[in-house]
Amino acid sequence: MKEHIIQLLEQTVTILKEQQIIPADAQPRIAVDRTRDKAHGDLATNLAMMMAKPAKKNPRELAQLIIDNLPESDLVNRTEIAGPGFINIFLNQDWLAQQIDIALEDENLSVQKAVTPDNVVVDLSSPNLAKEMHVGHLRSSIIGDSVARTLELLGHNVIRQNHVGDWGTQFGMLLAYMEEKRAEDAEISMQLSDLEVFYRAAKGRFDESEDFATRAREMVVMLQSGDEECNKLWQEFNDVSLAHCHDIYKRLNVKLTRDDVRGESFYNSDLHNVVAELEAQDLLTESNGAKCVFLDEFKNKDGDPLPVIIQKNGGGFLYATTDLAAMRFRQQQLNANRIMYFVDQRQALHFQQVFSVVQKAGFVKPETSLEHLGFGTMNGEDGRPFKTRSGGTVKLVDLLTEAEERAYTLVKAKNPTLTEEELKHIARVVGISSVKYADLSKNRSSDYIFNFDSMLSFEGNTAPYLLYACTRVGSIFNKVDAETVAKLATAKVQLNEDKEQELAGKLIQFNEIVHQVAKRATPNTLCTYLFELAGVFSSFYEACPILSTEDEDVKLSRLKLAQLTAKTLKQGLDLLGIETLERM
Ligand code: ARG
Repeated sequence: MKEHIIQLLEQTVTILKEQQIIPADAQPRIAVDRTRDKAHGDLATNLAMMMAKPAKKNPRELAQLIIDNLPESDLVNRTEIAGPGFINIFLNQDWLAQQIDIALEDENLSVQKAVTPDNVVVDLSSPNLAKEMHVGHLRSSIIGDSVARTLELLGHNVIRQNHVGDWGTQFGMLLAYMEEKRAEDAEISMQLSDLEVFYRAAKGRFDESEDFATRAREMVVMLQSGDEECNKLWQEFNDVSLAHCHDIYKRLNVKLTRDDVRGESFYNSDLHNVVAELEAQDLLTESNGAKCVFLDEFKNKDGDPLPVIIQKNGGGFLYATTDLAAMRFRQQQLNANRIMYFVDQRQALHFQQVFSVVQKAGFVKPETSLEHLGFGTMNGEDGRPFKTRSGGTVKLVDLLTEAEERAYTLVKAKNPTLTEEELKHIARVVGISSVKYADLSKNRSSDYIFNFDSMLSFEGNTAPYLLYACTRVGSIFNKVDAETVAKLATAKVQLNEDKEQELAGKLIQFNEIVHQVAKRATPNTLCTYLFELAGVFSSFYEACPILSTEDEDVKLSRLKLAQLTAKTLKQGLDLLGIETLERM
């Protein structure tokens, strides 16, 4: 509620700056406080007194100008000037109370659907199939999934695209190794149970044997020219590798199916067309035998335009070429009007360049929104990219298993009476959600330090804290009889206490937060909100007894506040792809 009033005052400051009443460079830190005496309204601000000097006005006079320019809000009943220039704000508590009743009756908790639904392509996860998924793919998968869920809640049409790396020279090496193993009569599926080991072995053969390397190169060419045997091997390899990925998606509760997979290989046959079209539009320049697009807006350190290589000397295509084809496909075949890429921040230049090329070439419509939503690196305690003790890349499977094991030990120590089955279930949910939440709650574009102890803590902005808050609100309802629950539907919320008002104010912000996440692709905004909501609920619960309250109407009203809190927390966590627990 306070936040809402602060926003209104910020808007007012902007208006007054436009009218040159407040100097344009003023950056007031707007403070809004609760009043001690309700006769002076609910909230008060000293903004007019703070700005009087820079505005060269008498504080009461400026206060009047602020009041005159304050945007209308359902939440504000009236305002008045007090003393030397305070502005007292009287809130419309009836309106606020009504909003709680309305949200509870709405299955979408009053989250407003988008007026014009978008066709959004969400490019997420997109691991390279030659190897196993590593921690870098965690961020793309879960941030992308959370934003996709949010867009869906708002009624947008979301098309998930898992742009897996399933093409390229390293497949020649892998296929040659499969062939060799098959000749030895080895069970291929067994060989592929650990892709890292398989990859390393194939690479070893490639480096040690000239014949093997030649065969590997041959097999790439055969694969590309559609050789049947090669394609069968390749298919087999990808099937196993994709099965590994989908095991992880399932564990992570990430909504991705095999139908969402449209890998690099899919665009292979279209790459020549991409080159031909760029050529026809005179966008290609030959440089050292390679075909390039030179973009004026990207310069190297000597100030010369940077090339985007489209086709190498010798005919080979690149990562960028495939992305151009994919963008064209997403525009023309999938009809996207918004395309979102959840890819490592370190690929920022790549995306700026390909976005620029597709716009120049008219592969996408000018009004289509192309967004690279980069994310930072997950680092270890030493502040460098997260590695195993021996310095290797951390497999995502191993990380998740360790999180579950640690959660098991923790939960068992906290609650020794749980059955083994319950314990396993709770440990799985706590372990996985801790990893996810620790990641989702960080600013997307910053690097962060991965730390099991802090993510599994029951205090602070963590998954265990929020999951526990959920079970706590839920447990109130375990003690309520069916008759009382039935009365909730017709009971009315009333907001007499400060803490009730504060909780109601927080609850009605949910709509705005969800829309922000959809717009800016920032699940961390939602995490902060849920954490604050849990905190506000907790102080409400301390100050305002629910079940022991004598007055039946007050009791029902508070139960309704608790009910909407429970639903909001659950819905919010669901948008993050986090399961909740009945008990823990
Ligand atoms: N496979 C790439 C990687 O692991 C990410 C692909 C992202 N998506 C795209 N359309 N380029 O780094």
